Amino acid sequence: MIDTHCHIFSEYYDNIEEVVNKMNGYMIVAGCDDKTNLEVIDLVSKYDKVYGVIGIQPEEVSQVTNKSIKIIEENINHPKIVGIGEIGLDYHYGIDDIDKQKDIFRTMLDLASKYHKPVVIHSRDAIKDTYDIIREYPDVKCDLHCYSSSLEMAREFVKLGCMFGIGGVITFKNAKKLVEVVREIPIENILLETDSPYLSPEPYRGQPNNPSNVYLIAQKIAEIKDMDVSEVLKITTENAIRQFDLPL
Ligand code: NI
Repeated sequence: MIDTHCHIFSEYYDNIEEVVNKMNGYMIVAGCDDKTNLEVIDLVSKYDKVYGVIGIQPEEVSQVTNKSIKIIEENINHPKIVGIGEIGLDYHYGIDDIDKQKDIFRTMLDLASKYHKPVVIHSRDAIKDTYDIIREYPDVKCDLHCYSSSLEMAREFVKLGCMFGIGGVITFKNAKKLVEVVREIPIENILLETDSPYLSPEPYRGQPNNPSNVYLIAQKIAEIKDMDVSEVLKITTENAIRQFDLPL
Protein backbone atom coordinates (compact mmCIF):
# COMPACT_ATOMS: atom_id res chain seq x y z
CA MET A 1 0.00 0.00 0.00
CA ILE A 2 1.05 3.57 -0.64
CA ASP A 3 0.29 6.66 1.43
CA THR A 4 0.30 9.24 -1.36
CA HIS A 5 0.34 12.28 0.94
CA CYS A 6 1.95 12.85 4.31
CA HIS A 7 4.17 15.32 6.13
CA ILE A 8 6.71 13.27 8.05
CA PHE A 9 8.76 16.20 9.29
CA SER A 10 10.89 16.75 12.38
CA GLU A 11 8.59 19.52 13.62
CA TYR A 12 5.83 16.90 14.05
CA TYR A 13 7.66 13.67 14.95
CA ASP A 14 10.36 12.89 17.51
CA ASN A 15 11.32 9.65 15.81
CA ILE A 16 10.88 9.73 12.04
CA GLU A 17 12.70 6.45 11.55
CA GLU A 18 10.13 4.67 13.71
CA VAL A 19 7.25 6.18 11.72
CA VAL A 20 8.85 5.16 8.42
CA ASN A 21 9.61 1.64 9.62
CA LYS A 22 6.08 1.14 10.86
CA MET A 23 4.74 1.55 7.33
CA ASN A 24 4.33 -1.71 5.44
CA GLY A 25 4.58 -0.06 2.05
CA TYR A 26 5.57 3.26 0.53
CA MET A 27 4.83 6.89 1.23
CA ILE A 28 5.02 10.18 -0.63
CA VAL A 29 6.06 13.04 1.63
CA ALA A 30 4.79 16.47 0.56
CA GLY A 31 6.72 19.69 1.09
CA CYS A 32 4.96 23.00 1.72
CA ASP A 33 7.70 25.65 1.82
CA ASP A 34 11.51 26.02 1.49
CA LYS A 35 12.29 24.36 4.81
CA THR A 36 10.08 21.31 4.33
CA ASN A 37 11.02 20.96 0.66
CA LEU A 38 14.65 20.57 1.73
CA GLU A 39 13.57 18.10 4.38
CA VAL A 40 11.76 16.07 1.69
CA ILE A 41 15.00 15.84 -0.35
CA ASP A 42 16.76 14.62 2.76
CA LEU A 43 14.12 11.99 3.58
CA VAL A 44 13.92 10.49 0.09
CA SER A 45 17.70 10.10 0.05
CA LYS A 46 17.70 8.41 3.43
CA TYR A 47 14.78 5.95 3.19
CA ASP A 48 14.02 3.51 0.36
CA LYS A 49 10.28 3.53 0.96
CA VAL A 50 9.96 7.32 0.95
CA TYR A 51 9.26 9.30 -2.22
CA GLY A 52 8.58 13.02 -2.30
CA VAL A 53 6.85 15.94 -3.93
CA ILE A 54 8.01 19.52 -3.45
CA GLY A 55 6.04 22.73 -3.83
CA ILE A 56 4.65 25.87 -2.26
CA GLN A 57 1.42 25.58 -0.31
CA PRO A 58 -1.08 28.43 -0.76
CA GLU A 59 -0.74 29.49 2.90
CA GLU A 60 2.98 29.99 2.33
CA VAL A 61 2.87 32.18 -0.79
CA SER A 62 3.75 35.39 1.08
CA GLN A 63 7.17 33.92 1.83
CA VAL A 64 8.02 32.86 -1.72
CA THR A 65 11.31 34.17 -3.09
CA ASN A 66 13.36 33.37 -6.18
CA LYS A 67 15.21 30.92 -3.98
CA SER A 68 11.96 29.00 -3.36
CA ILE A 69 11.47 28.44 -7.08
CA LYS A 70 15.15 27.60 -7.47
CA ILE A 71 14.99 24.88 -4.79
CA ILE A 72 12.11 23.24 -6.64
CA GLU A 73 13.64 23.51 -10.08
CA GLU A 74 17.04 22.25 -8.95
CA ASN A 75 15.55 19.13 -7.40
CA ILE A 76 12.68 18.37 -9.73
CA ASN A 77 14.65 15.75 -11.64
CA HIS A 78 15.82 13.95 -8.50
CA PRO A 79 14.94 10.28 -9.14
CA LYS A 80 12.79 10.12 -6.01
CA ILE A 81 11.00 13.44 -6.41
CA VAL A 82 7.87 12.31 -8.20
CA GLY A 83 5.87 15.51 -8.56
CA ILE A 84 5.17 19.09 -7.56
CA GLY A 85 3.10 19.67 -4.43
CA GLU A 86 1.53 20.63 -2.44
CA ILE A 87 0.31 23.62 -4.39
CA GLY A 88 -3.09 25.20 -4.89
CA LEU A 89 -5.57 27.72 -3.53
CA ASP A 90 -6.91 28.26 -0.02
CA TYR A 91 -9.49 30.98 0.62
CA HIS A 92 -10.39 29.71 4.08
CA TYR A 93 -8.72 32.56 5.94
CA GLY A 94 -9.67 35.23 3.43
CA ILE A 95 -8.83 36.27 -0.09
CA ASP A 96 -6.49 39.24 0.48
CA ASP A 97 -3.72 37.40 -1.34
CA ILE A 98 -5.87 35.77 -4.00
CA ASP A 99 -3.82 37.15 -6.91
CA LYS A 100 -0.55 36.02 -5.35
CA GLN A 101 -2.01 32.56 -4.69
CA LYS A 102 -3.17 32.20 -8.28
CA ASP A 103 0.14 33.50 -9.56
CA ILE A 104 2.21 30.96 -7.58
CA PHE A 105 -0.24 28.16 -8.42
CA ARG A 106 0.25 28.89 -12.14
CA THR A 107 4.03 29.17 -11.70
CA MET A 108 4.03 25.68 -10.15
CA LEU A 109 1.80 24.27 -12.90
CA ASP A 110 4.12 25.82 -15.50
CA LEU A 111 7.03 23.93 -13.91
CA ALA A 112 4.99 20.72 -13.86
CA SER A 113 4.20 21.14 -17.52
CA LYS A 114 7.81 21.99 -18.40
CA TYR A 115 9.26 18.98 -16.56
CA HIS A 116 6.36 16.57 -17.24
CA LYS A 117 5.57 16.05 -13.57
CA PRO A 118 2.21 15.39 -11.89
CA VAL A 119 0.95 17.84 -9.25
CA VAL A 120 -0.60 17.45 -5.81
CA ILE A 121 -3.27 20.07 -5.21
CA HIS A 122 -4.52 21.57 -1.97
CA SER A 123 -7.86 23.34 -2.52
CA ARG A 124 -9.97 24.74 0.29
CA ASP A 125 -13.01 26.96 -0.22
CA ALA A 126 -11.65 27.61 -3.71
CA ILE A 127 -12.87 24.74 -5.85
CA LYS A 128 -14.22 26.76 -8.78
CA ASP A 129 -10.99 28.75 -9.24
CA THR A 130 -8.98 25.54 -8.79
CA TYR A 131 -11.02 23.90 -11.53
CA ASP A 132 -10.65 26.87 -13.89
CA ILE A 133 -6.86 26.98 -13.47
CA ILE A 134 -6.40 23.20 -13.79
CA ARG A 135 -8.24 23.38 -17.09
CA GLU A 136 -5.54 25.70 -18.42
CA TYR A 137 -3.11 22.76 -18.08
CA PRO A 138 -4.61 19.72 -19.85
CA ASP A 139 -1.17 18.08 -20.06
CA VAL A 140 -0.58 18.06 -16.26
CA LYS A 141 -1.81 15.09 -14.19
CA CYS A 142 -3.55 16.28 -11.02
CA ASP A 143 -4.15 14.71 -7.61
CA LEU A 144 -6.78 16.60 -5.60
CA HIS A 145 -5.37 15.94 -2.18
CA CYS A 146 -7.93 15.64 0.66
CA TYR A 147 -10.85 16.21 -1.71
CA SER A 148 -13.67 17.93 0.16
CA SER A 149 -16.01 19.41 -2.43
CA SER A 150 -19.28 18.34 -3.98
CA LEU A 151 -20.17 15.28 -6.03
CA GLU A 152 -21.17 17.59 -8.85
CA MET A 153 -17.66 19.10 -8.99
CA ALA A 154 -16.11 15.64 -8.53
CA ARG A 155 -17.84 14.50 -11.72
CA GLU A 156 -16.27 17.45 -13.58
CA PHE A 157 -12.82 16.58 -12.23
CA VAL A 158 -13.26 12.94 -13.27
CA LYS A 159 -13.89 14.19 -16.81
CA LEU A 160 -10.52 15.98 -16.65
CA GLY A 161 -8.84 12.74 -15.55
CA CYS A 162 -8.02 14.02 -12.06
CA MET A 163 -7.26 11.72 -9.15
CA PHE A 164 -8.86 12.13 -5.71
CA GLY A 165 -6.78 11.82 -2.55
CA ILE A 166 -9.01 10.20 0.07
CA GLY A 167 -7.89 10.29 3.70
CA GLY A 168 -9.06 9.96 7.28
CA VAL A 169 -12.03 12.30 6.82
CA ILE A 170 -13.85 9.47 5.03
CA THR A 171 -14.06 7.59 8.36
CA PHE A 172 -15.61 10.53 10.25
CA LYS A 173 -19.28 10.38 11.21
CA ASN A 174 -20.07 13.68 9.47
CA ALA A 175 -18.47 12.64 6.16
CA LYS A 176 -21.78 12.06 4.33
CA LYS A 177 -20.89 14.22 1.34
CA LEU A 178 -17.48 12.59 0.89
CA VAL A 179 -18.97 9.09 1.24
CA GLU A 180 -21.29 10.01 -1.64
CA VAL A 181 -18.30 11.15 -3.73
CA VAL A 182 -16.32 7.97 -3.02
CA ARG A 183 -19.31 5.78 -3.84
CA GLU A 184 -19.80 7.50 -7.21
CA ILE A 185 -16.31 8.09 -8.59
CA PRO A 186 -14.44 5.18 -10.20
CA ILE A 187 -11.98 3.33 -7.95
CA GLU A 188 -9.43 3.98 -10.72
CA ASN A 189 -9.52 7.69 -9.74
CA ILE A 190 -8.83 7.15 -6.03
CA LEU A 191 -5.52 7.51 -4.21
CA LEU A 192 -5.11 6.65 -0.53
CA GLU A 193 -3.52 9.24 1.72
CA THR A 194 -3.22 10.06 5.42
CA ASP A 195 -2.07 13.72 5.44
CA SER A 196 -0.10 12.70 8.57
CA PRO A 197 0.31 14.11 11.16
CA TYR A 198 -3.21 15.52 10.62
CA LEU A 199 -6.63 13.94 10.14
CA SER A 200 -6.20 10.58 11.85
CA PRO A 201 -8.93 8.16 10.81
CA GLU A 202 -11.36 6.66 13.30
CA PRO A 203 -10.82 5.15 15.85
CA TYR A 204 -7.72 7.35 16.27
CA ARG A 205 -9.35 10.69 15.43
CA GLY A 206 -7.63 13.52 17.29
CA GLN A 207 -4.37 11.60 17.79
CA PRO A 208 -1.22 12.08 15.69
CA ASN A 209 -1.57 10.24 12.39
CA ASN A 210 0.99 8.01 10.65
CA PRO A 211 1.17 6.49 7.14
CA SER A 212 0.30 2.94 8.24
CA ASN A 213 -3.22 4.20 9.06
CA VAL A 214 -3.82 4.29 5.32
CA TYR A 215 -5.07 0.73 5.79
CA LEU A 216 -8.07 2.01 7.78
CA ILE A 217 -8.97 4.30 4.89
CA ALA A 218 -8.77 1.39 2.44
CA GLN A 219 -11.10 -0.56 4.73
CA LYS A 220 -13.64 2.24 4.77
CA ILE A 221 -13.52 2.66 0.99
CA ALA A 222 -14.00 -1.12 0.60
CA GLU A 223 -17.10 -0.89 2.80
CA ILE A 224 -18.54 2.07 0.84
CA LYS A 225 -17.86 0.53 -2.57
CA ASP A 226 -18.75 -3.02 -1.50
CA MET A 227 -15.36 -4.39 -2.51
CA ASP A 228 -12.73 -6.55 -0.82
CA VAL A 229 -10.15 -4.48 1.01
CA SER A 230 -7.42 -6.43 -0.81
CA GLU A 231 -8.91 -5.32 -4.12
CA VAL A 232 -9.04 -1.67 -2.95
CA LEU A 233 -5.39 -1.86 -1.88
CA LYS A 234 -4.33 -3.48 -5.14
CA ILE A 235 -6.11 -1.00 -7.41
CA THR A 236 -5.20 2.14 -5.44
CA THR A 237 -1.56 1.02 -5.35
CA GLU A 238 -1.61 0.61 -9.13
CA ASN A 239 -3.23 4.04 -9.38
CA ALA A 240 -0.45 5.65 -7.33
CA ILE A 241 2.27 3.91 -9.34
CA ARG A 242 0.69 5.14 -12.57
CA GLN A 243 -0.04 8.68 -11.34
CA PHE A 244 3.46 9.34 -9.95
CA ASP A 245 5.32 7.03 -12.31
CA LEU A 246 6.83 5.23 -9.31
CA PRO A 247 9.60 2.76 -10.15
CA LEU A 248 7.96 -0.07 -8.18
NI1 NI B 1 -1.03 18.04 3.23
